[in-house]
Amino acid sequence: MARARPAAKKAPAPVGITAFAPGKVILLGEHAVVYGHPALAAPLTWGVTARAAPAKRVGLGLPPTLTGKGRKLLQAAFARAAGASGNPPVRVTLESDLPVSVGLGSSAAVAVATARALLHAAGRPTRVRDVLDVALEMEREFHATPSGLDHTCSAYGELIRFQRKPTAARGTVRVVSSARPLKLLIAVVGDRSPTRETVSALRQRIDRWPSRYRRVMEDIGKLADEGAEAIARGDLETLGDAMNVNHGLLGALGLSSPRIDALVHLLRSMGALGAKLTGAGGDGGAVIALFRDPERAMAQPALARAKIRCFESQIAGPRAL
Ligand code: PMV
Repeated sequence: MARARPAAKKAPAPVGITAFAPGKVILLGEHAVVYGHPALAAPLTWGVTARAAPAKRVGLGLPPTLTGKGRKLLQAAFARAAGASGNPPVRVTLESDLPVSVGLGSSAAVAVATARALLHAAGRPTRVRDVLDVALEMEREFHATPSGLDHTCSAYGELIRFQRKPTAARGTVRVVSSARPLKLLIAVVGDRSPTRETVSALRQRIDRWPSRYRRVMEDIGKLADEGAEAIARGDLETLGDAMNVNHGLLGALGLSSPRIDALVHLLRSMGALGAKLTGAGGDGGAVIALFRDPERAMAQPALARAKIRCFESQIAGPRAL
């Protein structure tokens, strides 16, 4: 008589897991960061929540609003993250309160929240560096050659100075603390081309006129460091000026547009200490403006008249209880 095979030991079913990751704004240094220069980025209060529930095998519940290319891209990115975290038997669902594809870090927040949930479900370590490794797999699918700034900022959840030399696997990170509350008004310009397209069009201009573009990139990197010093001193006017000059240089690189510039100028006319595009830019996206009191600025009729979608966020410094 054949002996009954001992029942295979079942791995304990993971209990429901919830992981949150914030969106981000780039305060100074986008694009130049891809070429090894420093940049500053800070987390938003809004972000992405990933929920992982026990299932037969690893899978992603795709949001019904996502169609066509976006669906395929998210599925492919998820498959990479699932593989990198050991394919734990969970079904992951995502919920976001971030505007999508406007440069506020929604893809990085998806990557970090998903990485946290998957690693947790797999019983693996969830230190920042473990999360970054898995999230980078997703970011590579989304953006091809990301600098790593977006998902690093989301994983740290703090205002950071980030720099990654082009040959290095990882970036170096320093948390920048601010003695004063640092508050931004964030205004949405609108739809824009995907980051990978804007980055690749810029790369073509750099390849054609390397020394001219390299000079501008270097200056942008210096602004990021000057901005970090200004934040540490609590010198908001110097930080604002660095943002203005950074916006001018992004324009010189061909990364702004008439509707971005119009919003930047409107915000400056309303008293912003500095205003610039944030993220990849191109033809739309979002603009950030440094105000001492962004709530008061938001109440000004000029923004409502122009039907601008905007919100305020404190990105660093002491918070009122
Ligand atoms: O995708 P966005 O809009 O958050 O832009 C990413 C920032 C870039 O510097 C343009 C690209 C990168 O990989 O850092």
